[in-house]
Amino acid sequence: MTRLIVVSNRVNPPTGAGEESVGGLAMALAAALREYSGLWFGWSGQSTPTFTGQLSMQKIEGVTAATIDLEESDVEEYYNGYANKTLWPLFHYRTDIAAYDRAFNEGYQRANRRFAETLRPLIEPDDLIWIHDYHLIPLARELRRLGLKNRMGFFLHVPWPAYQVFVTLPGHRQLVESMFDYDLVGFQTEDYRQAFEEYVLSEAGGEKVGDDLFKAFGRSVRVGAFPIGIDAPDFARLIKTNRARRMRDLMTACTVFRHLIVGVDRLDYSKGLEERFTGFERFLAADPDMRREVLMLQIAPVSRESVEAYQEIRARLDAISGRINGEYADVDWAPFRYVNKNYRRDELAGIYGAARIGLVTPLRDGMNLVAKEFVASQNPEDPGVLILSRFAGAARQMKEALLVNPNSPDEIADAIRRGLAMDKPERIRRWSALFDNVQREDVTAWRDAFVDALKGVEERRTALAS
Ligand code: G6P
Repeated sequence: MTRLIVVSNRVNPPTGAGEESVGGLAMALAAALREYSGLWFGWSGQSTPTFTGQLSMQKIEGVTAATIDLEESDVEEYYNGYANKTLWPLFHYRTDIAAYDRAFNEGYQRANRRFAETLRPLIEPDDLIWIHDYHLIPLARELRRLGLKNRMGFFLHVPWPAYQVFVTLPGHRQLVESMFDYDLVGFQTEDYRQAFEEYVLSEAGGEKVGDDLFKAFGRSVRVGAFPIGIDAPDFARLIKTNRARRMRDLMTACTVFRHLIVGVDRLDYSKGLEERFTGFERFLAADPDMRREVLMLQIAPVSRESVEAYQEIRARLDAISGRINGEYADVDWAPFRYVNKNYRRDELAGIYGAARIGLVTPLRDGMNLVAKEFVASQNPEDPGVLILSRFAGAARQMKEALLVNPNSPDEIADAIRRGLAMDKPERIRRWSALFDNVQREDVTAWRDAFVDALKGVEERRTALAS
């Protein structure tokens, strides 16, 4: 029987208790793993002074999680370094803060080698191996070096940048060459797929030998766009839970006579939070009559705190949020709530359900599932309005949202005004189209499309050879 091996830097299988605290993607991958009786491999989140390679195996609710601790220097050079100080900013178009340090690249290659060496003994010949995200791009190369011939697929959750941006990475060729050790590479959108194609054709001297098959570096790889979605049936269940209802009632009660505007993001400079806060500030400044009519709630759990750029953006957001309330709050009322706490998915569903406007305005984002969860949480008879960045991968599918340029606080302010004024028939019309897409292109469709394509590579290989 074919097993599925999922590999990602972070491993978050359901914990058994309180599944609602686990991310939607994790739930979907866990469901696939149960179906294929596979295992999920990655970093434990812990570090040790020297690398031991010791595996820790846990079976929870039918999913086997296999994790390893990383060496402290790996955490510094691979995770904080190359993954989060080099690739993350670069893939989100922040070439100004991307750090290029040879030690980071060495740490990245070393950690990938260590992942490969520890994973190798767990693999059986027929296993499908599905590797996730920018932390692990060279993993297939390392596994091939150890002699594995299995079908291997890679899915990039973040954007693939435009050619001119990507080539600013020292060693860009080596990185792309390692992607040709996969059988299948998946991107979130057609734009990212095209940007990759442009690189392969114009920089790597590659060629396109079929609709989705590329040749370069003496090898070939199949490339496709596989937009990720949310677990729609599970979300439909979630919004009906007691916890979700309680949260919706609570938020409705504390916004009587006011409209709730909500944003939920990891505290990351790619999320456009400064511009969003400033957009809200300009909306308040321009519209004194509206000041008592709205409450903006931004939930932004802190993230990657040992990276300086994250400490800086946090300090700036503290300052802007303080300034907005300082300027516009009254003794009995404040326009802005800024919360750095993490909430469970069912509670978030309740918050979205109480909101009149969802603000999802990243400067760049691979997909953005908050946009989809917001839509899935709305009351069909009186739905809220989604304001969405045109630079989120989700904008490709969610054209009925109010699309904005997230770099422009003025456009954000205009969209808030327009969203608040939108009549019910228009809100229902837009929401129905969005909801239809969220239901159809959900995480199960994404996973099945990717896994089927990966299963199909063997047949294609045979066909090409004959
Ligand atoms: C993004 C990445 C994921 C990552 C997550 C949280 O969504 O695409 O791979 O796991 O951020 O970031 P962290 O660094 O805490 O894993």
